[in-house]
Amino acid sequence: MVDTDGNAVTGAEDDVWHASPDGLYENQDPEQAEWNLRGRFFSDEEGMFAFRGIKPSGYPIPMGGPVGELLTALQRHLFRPAHVHALIHKPGYKTIASQLYSHDDPILETDAQFGVVRSLVGTYVRHEHEPVPDPVVTEPWYSLEFTFVVEPGEAWLPTPPVSAKRDSTPYLPRGTL
Ligand SMILES: [Fe+2]
Repeated sequence: MVDTDGNAVTGAEDDVWHASPDGLYENQDPEQAEWNLRGRFFSDEEGMFAFRGIKPSGYPIPMGGPVGELLTALQRHLFRPAHVHALIHKPGYKTIASQLYSHDDPILETDAQFGVVRSLVGTYVRHEHEPVPDPVVTEPWYSLEFTFVVEPGEAWLPTPPVSAKRDSTPYLPRGTL
Protein backbone atom coordinates (compact mmCIF):
# COMPACT_ATOMS: atom_id res chain seq x y z
CA MET A 1 0.00 0.00 0.00
CA VAL A 2 1.41 3.33 -1.03
CA ASP A 3 0.40 6.96 -1.00
CA THR A 4 0.13 9.08 -4.13
CA ASP A 5 3.88 9.81 -3.96
CA GLY A 6 4.68 6.10 -3.88
CA ASN A 7 5.66 6.02 -0.21
CA ALA A 8 4.74 3.00 1.91
CA VAL A 9 1.69 3.52 4.12
CA THR A 10 2.15 1.72 7.41
CA GLY A 11 -0.47 0.73 9.97
CA ALA A 12 -3.42 0.87 7.58
CA GLU A 13 -6.28 -1.39 8.62
CA ASP A 14 -7.20 -3.83 5.87
CA ASP A 15 -10.37 -5.87 6.00
CA VAL A 16 -10.69 -8.52 3.30
CA TRP A 17 -13.45 -11.03 2.63
CA HIS A 18 -14.74 -13.18 -0.19
CA ALA A 19 -17.11 -15.96 -1.10
CA SER A 20 -16.44 -19.69 -0.89
CA PRO A 21 -16.05 -21.96 -3.93
CA ASP A 22 -19.82 -22.47 -3.66
CA GLY A 23 -20.33 -18.74 -4.21
CA LEU A 24 -21.57 -18.02 -0.69
CA TYR A 25 -20.27 -15.75 2.04
CA GLU A 26 -20.00 -17.37 5.44
CA ASN A 27 -22.93 -15.34 6.81
CA GLN A 28 -25.10 -16.83 4.02
CA ASP A 29 -23.96 -20.40 4.52
CA PRO A 30 -24.54 -22.48 7.67
CA GLU A 31 -21.99 -25.01 6.41
CA GLN A 32 -19.13 -22.55 6.81
CA ALA A 33 -17.37 -21.72 10.06
CA GLU A 34 -18.02 -18.34 11.63
CA TRP A 35 -15.82 -15.67 10.02
CA ASN A 36 -14.62 -18.06 7.35
CA LEU A 37 -12.83 -16.27 4.49
CA ARG A 38 -12.75 -12.98 6.34
CA GLY A 39 -9.65 -11.34 7.77
CA ARG A 40 -8.25 -8.15 9.18
CA PHE A 41 -4.66 -7.09 8.70
CA PHE A 42 -2.46 -4.05 9.23
CA SER A 43 0.16 -2.92 6.75
CA ASP A 44 3.73 -3.28 8.02
CA GLU A 45 6.67 -0.88 7.84
CA GLU A 46 6.93 -1.55 4.11
CA GLY A 47 3.23 -0.94 3.56
CA MET A 48 2.65 -4.64 2.99
CA PHE A 49 0.16 -7.14 4.24
CA ALA A 50 -0.21 -10.73 3.14
CA PHE A 51 -2.41 -13.69 3.87
CA ARG A 52 -3.13 -17.20 2.62
CA GLY A 53 -6.62 -18.05 1.43
CA ILE A 54 -8.34 -19.76 -1.45
CA LYS A 55 -8.94 -18.53 -4.96
CA PRO A 56 -12.34 -16.81 -4.86
CA SER A 57 -15.36 -17.73 -6.93
CA GLY A 58 -18.11 -15.68 -8.49
CA TYR A 59 -21.75 -15.95 -7.52
CA PRO A 60 -25.23 -14.97 -8.68
CA ILE A 61 -26.97 -11.99 -7.14
CA PRO A 62 -30.38 -12.79 -5.56
CA MET A 63 -32.84 -13.65 -8.32
CA GLY A 64 -36.00 -12.83 -6.40
CA GLY A 65 -35.42 -9.14 -5.77
CA PRO A 66 -36.03 -6.11 -7.99
CA VAL A 67 -32.45 -6.07 -9.28
CA GLY A 68 -32.81 -9.69 -10.39
CA GLU A 69 -36.10 -8.86 -12.09
CA LEU A 70 -34.55 -5.87 -13.84
CA LEU A 71 -31.55 -7.83 -15.10
CA THR A 72 -33.81 -10.65 -16.28
CA ALA A 73 -36.00 -8.14 -18.13
CA LEU A 74 -32.87 -6.77 -19.77
CA GLN A 75 -31.87 -10.33 -20.71
CA ARG A 76 -28.66 -9.99 -18.74
CA HIS A 77 -27.19 -12.77 -16.63
CA LEU A 78 -27.17 -12.50 -12.82
CA PHE A 79 -23.57 -13.41 -12.07
CA ARG A 80 -20.73 -11.49 -10.50
CA PRO A 81 -17.16 -12.39 -11.44
CA ALA A 82 -14.84 -13.78 -8.75
CA HIS A 83 -13.56 -11.04 -6.46
CA VAL A 84 -12.08 -10.22 -3.10
CA HIS A 85 -13.53 -7.33 -1.12
CA ALA A 86 -11.11 -4.90 0.52
CA LEU A 87 -11.81 -2.12 2.98
CA ILE A 88 -8.70 -0.07 3.72
CA HIS A 89 -8.81 2.50 6.46
CA LYS A 90 -6.27 4.82 8.02
CA PRO A 91 -6.94 8.24 9.51
CA GLY A 92 -5.66 10.95 7.18
CA TYR A 93 -6.45 8.99 4.03
CA LYS A 94 -9.63 8.47 2.03
CA THR A 95 -10.99 5.05 2.88
CA ILE A 96 -10.91 2.52 0.06
CA ALA A 97 -13.89 0.18 -0.21
CA SER A 98 -13.25 -1.87 -3.27
CA GLN A 99 -13.25 -5.25 -4.96
CA LEU A 100 -10.31 -6.94 -6.63
CA TYR A 101 -11.29 -9.15 -9.57
CA SER A 102 -9.70 -12.32 -10.89
CA HIS A 103 -8.11 -11.82 -14.31
CA ASP A 104 -9.26 -15.22 -15.54
CA ASP A 105 -12.95 -14.89 -14.79
CA PRO A 106 -14.93 -15.24 -18.04
CA ILE A 107 -17.56 -12.63 -17.16
CA LEU A 108 -15.38 -9.64 -16.31
CA GLU A 109 -16.95 -7.75 -19.22
CA THR A 110 -20.54 -8.50 -18.22
CA ASP A 111 -20.55 -8.24 -14.42
CA ALA A 112 -24.17 -7.99 -13.23
CA GLN A 113 -23.14 -5.18 -10.88
CA PHE A 114 -21.07 -3.28 -13.48
CA GLY A 115 -18.30 -3.11 -10.86
CA VAL A 116 -15.29 -4.20 -12.90
CA VAL A 117 -12.74 -1.67 -14.09
CA ARG A 118 -9.38 -2.58 -15.55
CA SER A 119 -7.43 -1.06 -12.66
CA LEU A 120 -9.13 -3.48 -10.22
CA VAL A 121 -8.31 -6.68 -12.10
CA GLY A 122 -5.57 -8.65 -10.38
CA THR A 123 -3.51 -11.37 -12.03
CA TYR A 124 -3.39 -14.70 -10.24
CA VAL A 125 -0.10 -16.42 -11.02
CA ARG A 126 -0.33 -20.22 -11.15
CA HIS A 127 2.51 -22.16 -9.53
CA GLU A 128 3.46 -25.77 -10.10
CA HIS A 129 6.67 -27.64 -9.31
CA GLU A 130 7.74 -24.78 -7.06
CA PRO A 131 8.22 -24.68 -3.29
CA VAL A 132 4.88 -24.22 -1.56
CA PRO A 133 4.50 -21.22 0.79
CA ASP A 134 3.16 -23.45 3.56
CA PRO A 135 3.18 -27.24 4.06
CA VAL A 136 -0.63 -27.37 3.94
CA VAL A 137 -0.69 -25.84 0.45
CA THR A 138 -1.07 -28.31 -2.41
CA GLU A 139 -0.19 -27.80 -6.06
CA PRO A 140 -1.18 -26.02 -8.14
CA TRP A 141 -1.34 -22.89 -6.05
CA TYR A 142 -1.77 -19.26 -6.99
CA SER A 143 -0.31 -15.99 -5.85
CA LEU A 144 -1.71 -12.53 -6.27
CA GLU A 145 0.03 -9.22 -5.66
CA PHE A 146 -1.74 -5.91 -5.84
CA THR A 147 -0.84 -2.38 -4.81
CA PHE A 148 -3.52 -0.13 -3.39
CA VAL A 149 -2.89 3.61 -3.59
CA VAL A 150 -4.43 5.74 -0.86
CA GLU A 151 -5.06 9.46 -1.23
CA PRO A 152 -4.92 12.07 1.51
CA GLY A 153 -8.39 12.92 2.79
CA GLU A 154 -11.06 12.08 5.29
CA ALA A 155 -11.27 8.52 6.54
CA TRP A 156 -14.65 6.95 7.20
CA LEU A 157 -15.92 3.52 8.19
CA PRO A 158 -19.27 2.08 7.15
CA THR A 159 -21.35 -0.09 9.45
CA PRO A 160 -20.60 -3.60 8.25
CA PRO A 161 -23.49 -5.99 7.50
CA VAL A 162 -21.99 -8.45 9.97
CA SER A 163 -21.87 -5.91 12.82
CA ALA A 164 -24.65 -7.63 14.79
CA LYS A 165 -22.73 -10.90 14.69
CA ARG A 166 -19.52 -9.09 15.60
CA ASP A 167 -21.14 -7.52 18.65
CA SER A 168 -22.38 -10.90 19.86
CA THR A 169 -19.03 -12.64 19.37
CA PRO A 170 -17.16 -12.58 22.67
CA TYR A 171 -13.64 -13.09 21.31
CA LEU A 172 -13.67 -10.08 18.98
CA PRO A 173 -13.02 -6.77 20.71
CA ARG A 174 -15.46 -3.97 19.99
CA GLY A 175 -14.25 -1.69 17.29
CA THR A 176 -13.00 -4.53 15.12
CA LEU A 177 -14.72 -5.49 11.88
FE1 LIG B 1 -18.99 -9.83 -3.21
